[in-house]
Amino acid sequence: MYKKIPVQTSSNDNYEITIGSELLDEVSQFISQHYGTNKIFLVIDELVHEHHKFTIESKIAGTFDKVARYVVPSGERSKSIEQYNSIVDFLLEDGAERGTPLLAIGGGVVGDLAGFVAASTLRGLPLIHVPTTLLAMVDSSIGGKTGINHRTGKNLIGAFYQPKAVFSDVNFLKTLPRKEWVNGLSEIIKYGMIESKDILDQLKTLTEGENFASPDTWVDIITQSAFIKADIVSRDVKESGVREFLNFGHTFAHVIERKGNYEQYSHGEAVYAGMLGAIKASNHLGATIDPSNLLHFKPLYDVSLSAINGDVKDLTNLMLRDKKVKDQTIRLVLLNKLEDPVVRSFADTAFIDQSWEEVIKEFN
Ligand SMILES: NC(=O)c1ccc[n+]([C@@H]2O[C@H](COP(=O)([O-])OP(=O)(O)OC[C@H]3O[C@@H](n4cnc5c(N)ncnc54)[C@H](O)[C@@H]3O)[C@@H](O)[C@H]2O)c1
Repeated sequence: MYKKIPVQTSSNDNYEITIGSELLDEVSQFISQHYGTNKIFLVIDELVHEHHKFTIESKIAGTFDKVARYVVPSGERSKSIEQYNSIVDFLLEDGAERGTPLLAIGGGVVGDLAGFVAASTLRGLPLIHVPTTLLAMVDSSIGGKTGINHRTGKNLIGAFYQPKAVFSDVNFLKTLPRKEWVNGLSEIIKYGMIESKDILDQLKTLTEGENFASPDTWVDIITQSAFIKADIVSRDVKESGVREFLNFGHTFAHVIERKGNYEQYSHGEAVYAGMLGAIKASNHLGATIDPSNLLHFKPLYDVSLSAINGDVKDLTNLMLRDKKVKDQTIRLVLLNKLEDPVVRSFADTAFIDQSWEEVIKEFN
């Protein structure tokens, strides 16, 4: 049984997310039905290619006459202009046409990179996401953000480009390293905090014991998480209103990532600690959120913020929205209570300094 989630976009190119186990047959059926083509391009993450080559070849590649494969080296460094150029060269030299579908098979790195290639080559190739990490299934494959990094910062070159479909097959997760599971957990916890306490309860069960529950049993929680993201981005395609709720914990997290030179802490670890900052800040403003809703999951994370210990005012200053704006404020997603997010801007930031102190103490 597959779960399906419709995603609405502003430009009427609505699409569906399909989530389940063993659903790669559906991918080829979808392409045959919609594109009547014999040719497809696969852009595949290196480790996914290594672990799942046989399945991808038999279920997807084997059903088309002409299949061109490009394997992307694993890791964030591949979200580069060099990889972008190399894939575009590969597609055009291989005779890509406007209607040739491009499948992005991998985590957020391949999704963002191949998505941007699809957005820009021949003014747009049909893009199909096949996410293979927990993070990509619940977050990066949904919402149409594509892009690459520039030496001056992350995700600075890119485009909003909606896929034609997303197929999340939890079988891929069988080979996902534990560190990458934990990375994706933070986004699921975030959805729990901003919209569904039920998700937090389910997550407690799925992460009980020594090992996480088998990927098959994650279909429901991935579906609920993907639904929340799809619902929020459908209401706010280009990120001006409710989509900001998805930044819960992220303003704190960006400072933590920066202080760790984008190496010491993974995004998921930073978001996890950042959500404690947002809870503490909310409570300083009068909410009464029990931090144990978040801290229950702390044993899964291996985060120590002792390296960023120092003057908390410096950390708060790094959160300032725009150094060029005279009236400097910090914009935060907070909670009135669990499942009730709100966005507010602050010029008086003493309570944020205090929140940092508490976060550092918790993760010392
Ligand atoms: N577009 C968006 O809206 C959006 C949202 C969130 C994050 N992102 C981006 O996503 C990226 C992070 O994505 P990610 O966390 O998926 O990282 P990733 O794509 O780098 O994958 C993490 C690691 O897991 C490996 N891997 C992937 N699937 C595997 C599998 N099934 N089995 C074994 N290994 C596997 C990869 O080779 C890599 O080493 C960042 O670049 C971030 O900017 C984009």
